[in-house]
Amino acid sequence: MPDITVTSLLALKQKGEKITMLTCYDATFAHTASQAGVEVLLVGDSLGMVLQGHDSTLPVTTSEMAYHVAGVKRGNQGALILVDLPFMSYATPDQTFANSAMLMQAGAHMVKIEGAAWLADSIRLLAERGVPVCAHMGLTPQAVNVLGGYKVQGRQEAQARQMRADAITLEQAGAAMILLECVPTELAQEITHAVKIPVIGIGAGIDTDGQVLVLHDMLGLSITGRVPKFVKNFMTGQPDIQSAISAYVRAVKDLSFPAPEHGFSA
Ligand code: KIV
Repeated sequence: MPDITVTSLLALKQKGEKITMLTCYDATFAHTASQAGVEVLLVGDSLGMVLQGHDSTLPVTTSEMAYHVAGVKRGNQGALILVDLPFMSYATPDQTFANSAMLMQAGAHMVKIEGAAWLADSIRLLAERGVPVCAHMGLTPQAVNVLGGYKVQGRQEAQARQMRADAITLEQAGAAMILLECVPTELAQEITHAVKIPVIGIGAGIDTDGQVLVLHDMLGLSITGRVPKFVKNFMTGQPDIQSAISAYVRAVKDLSFPAPEHGFSA
């Protein structure tokens, strides 16, 4: 597989081929997932929960993210490496620059920040300085204490209208990608059609330009035993992890995942 870039992701959207993304936190899984054809490896701050055992992503630091990105870079075979700026690491422009630089120098090709229209200035500043940005909208886990829990976002018409407008604002600010988490399928479809940049979904239905899952979730591993509705266990019926990840890639590409039961209604 040739190296994946922002340009090749855009081309996949334009030709209607679904984009595959999976979280990844170390060299071995980076090798396995990229060999299986996963196009984007997301070094997510979900590592705070699945690797570190915290009950939220808030304790994760930028240095910890840089450590994991460096490992993923060593194992990666041509996927695009997307990395989360963790909680409070992009609260001011100075922090945003310094922390993005640390993660790009550790091996990231794009950074992800959580929020809505208020991200526009940061996105513009980063894009102008050579850092592609993915805007994570909908359920933004770093804001769990404001949202009052891990809940579907955009069910009320006013909130849905705001999210559609914010997506366009962030595209105009220079965002290279949007990630929608836990939003109704119909709203995700409208946003996907409204912007030219790729839109990746998790709990956002079948119509986004691609899908992402947390690696441990799709391998059927959980500390808490609570499995979100949008997760499918791809280990079921597979002999090994490489085959499970390949099955995920096939299912996203042939549109058999996500099924209607993995999505949310308005
Ligand atoms: O940190 C992460 O794993 C994420 C996914 C839930 C999309 O942001």
